[in-house]
Amino acid sequence: MSFELKIDALLGRMTLVEKVGQMCQLAIFIPDLEDRIRQGHAGSIICSNSPTPGNTPQDPVLALQLNEYQRLAVEESRLGIPILFGRDVLHGYKTVGPIPLGQAATWNPEIIESVARVTACEASADGINLNFAPVIDIARDPRWGRIAEGFGEDPHLCSVLAQAAVRGYQGEDLTDPATVLACAKHFAGYGAVEGGRDYNGTEIAATTLRNIYLPPFWAAVRAGVGAIMSGFHDIGGIPMSAHRELVAGILKEEWGFEGFVISDWAAIDEMRQHGVAETRADCALISALAGLDMDMASEVYIDELAALVETNQLAEAVIDDAVRRVLRAKFRLGLFDQPYTDVKRASLHLSPDHRQVVRKAAEQSLVLLKNDGILPLAKSDLTVGVFGPLANARKTLCGAWNLDGHEDSVLSILDAVRDKVGANVEILATDLVDDALKIAPRCDVVIAVVGEGIARSGENNCITTLDLPPGHQAFLEALHAIQVPTAAIVLAGRPLALEWADRNLSAILMVWHPGTEGAKAITDTLFGDHNPSGKSPVTFPRNVGQVPLHYNHRPTGRPLPRNDRRHSRYADAPDSPLYPFGYGLSYSTFEYRNLHITVTAPRAVSISAEITNTSSTAGDEIAQLYIRDVVASISRPVKELKGFSRLSLKPGETQTVVFQLTQDDLSFYNQSGHLSFEPGLFKVWVGPDSNTGLAGQFELK
Ligand code: NOJ
Repeated sequence: MSFELKIDALLGRMTLVEKVGQMCQLAIFIPDLEDRIRQGHAGSIICSNSPTPGNTPQDPVLALQLNEYQRLAVEESRLGIPILFGRDVLHGYKTVGPIPLGQAATWNPEIIESVARVTACEASADGINLNFAPVIDIARDPRWGRIAEGFGEDPHLCSVLAQAAVRGYQGEDLTDPATVLACAKHFAGYGAVEGGRDYNGTEIAATTLRNIYLPPFWAAVRAGVGAIMSGFHDIGGIPMSAHRELVAGILKEEWGFEGFVISDWAAIDEMRQHGVAETRADCALISALAGLDMDMASEVYIDELAALVETNQLAEAVIDDAVRRVLRAKFRLGLFDQPYTDVKRASLHLSPDHRQVVRKAAEQSLVLLKNDGILPLAKSDLTVGVFGPLANARKTLCGAWNLDGHEDSVLSILDAVRDKVGANVEILATDLVDDALKIAPRCDVVIAVVGEGIARSGENNCITTLDLPPGHQAFLEALHAIQVPTAAIVLAGRPLALEWADRNLSAILMVWHPGTEGAKAITDTLFGDHNPSGKSPVTFPRNVGQVPLHYNHRPTGRPLPRNDRRHSRYADAPDSPLYPFGYGLSYSTFEYRNLHITVTAPRAVSISAEITNTSSTAGDEIAQLYIRDVVASISRPVKELKGFSRLSLKPGETQTVVFQLTQDDLSFYNQSGHLSFEPGLFKVWVGPDSNTGLAGQFELK
């Protein structure tokens, strides 16, 4: 029997309250959870608790607890419908990968997919079957702490990586016990919160919503994502929990999304604070009609929906549609046949294979922002100082939105350097800044580990300066004053304003929050056993006053670079970023040559270029393709990423990169909200970042 027939049969047996129970996600910490499960109120449970420590990370503590809740649902509730157990497992479970923004710097969908597979394997072993990831919010404002959780500023890059993450979490077949249902979030436009302040409102023009913020969600839906979470924010006064046009309209009707939509935590109830609902019953009615199928934690649905149906304010068909979506997810996961997790699988947590996957991800996530030649360091006859406020950090390396990584499984950067170089290199270290400044003159080079701790990154950790934290900047300046060559390792969940460091230090390696194996990846890179290849998935501004600053802005009527007062510019700072989107150095050097553009069909183009490794070091280069639609019915971005390719090049080797563009790649959403192709002239660039490259053009009739 097909899922849909099974769902029909089950729906036919359900009471109204049991149906609404499927639309309810209860918090794991509520006191009467077990009774509520027996009553059929727990369609889902959010496991928002901190992990209960076992003796080892392989102890199946959570697995045993969730299996017991599942048993109550399956054996002691009337219909025996299994529970969806949700948790935030954004970039790794016990084995932690780089934060998503760091993973995006790999520009490598295979990496994103493999980290998601490891995450799914480990989280599912503990009984989690619904993961609140990937975060696919386009973020143009680094003041917003949650920029760390997503894949950066570009809709194309984010869409490709969103699909890779969905594939990784959900696998080929969700009945495989090592998979989890992915829940893409936060629908839609959350990254545009005003002032970069979390939970705030947004103003997003319809064309911008369609062309910038929605594409990653559309990509995730095409990849079969099982659930979508709506955001806390509003657009122009309409909170997401009430946004019928977006949720019921675009997502479900226009795109044909068959999964379920879940609110963010208590966001349905929060409509009273937004000022669009007076009572909890109003909240329930508005959200159910907007198309939100599951209520995370506020319990508004379970308290109010049945009465709304019984008093004819809400059609039962609305409830049935929501329940059908939730049950569909449970059938897709195979939970009716296999509701329990095999607790022995927790032995896989932190396995060497898993560590290997996140180590490779960490390696490729590192972005070399500056290098005057000091890196890579020699492995002998050298005295290296490893100093700075984060040199000994361990938990920090796991990033802000990571519940399950434990610092005991993480090596600090200082320890990783010591492990690596053995006795051939003298390592000097101290926790104290004053001591560091005394020792530093004895060093040939100083590695200064600075940046953001996790209390300054992630959810609701928004900031009004992008400078390094005060002590960190002062430390770098003091090192500079004693003229020791210094390479800064910058840990952070966002692009910081590093203009001083760029001007004054020898090297800057941006390492984000790189995860369990991050310190080893960094150390391999410092000493040349790994050649950095990451490219920034966000623009690095010079200072906070420039934000929002993104490469794919629209042209103005008075564009730069005309250097006079009538043109769009700041009076007190350059308009350019410090490092553009797509930027990142290597120990190799690459040369781009011979751009070829061939119109292969009336609406298709092939673009190729040759890339040569002109150095004596093997390395990877991420070649990027940008276009500009020169004249259109609405003003189009000055550049738009349309393709990218990672090439591994031996010394002296040349490879040809080829990109094929189709009509869809060259189309955009017009003023009527339709995807439209408008013929005419297109400019093209193929290069190492969004600022430079070989330029050409083509015309389509
Ligand atoms: C609030 C966050 O916005 C969301 O991303 C997360 O999934 C939920 N809390 C649950 O932890």
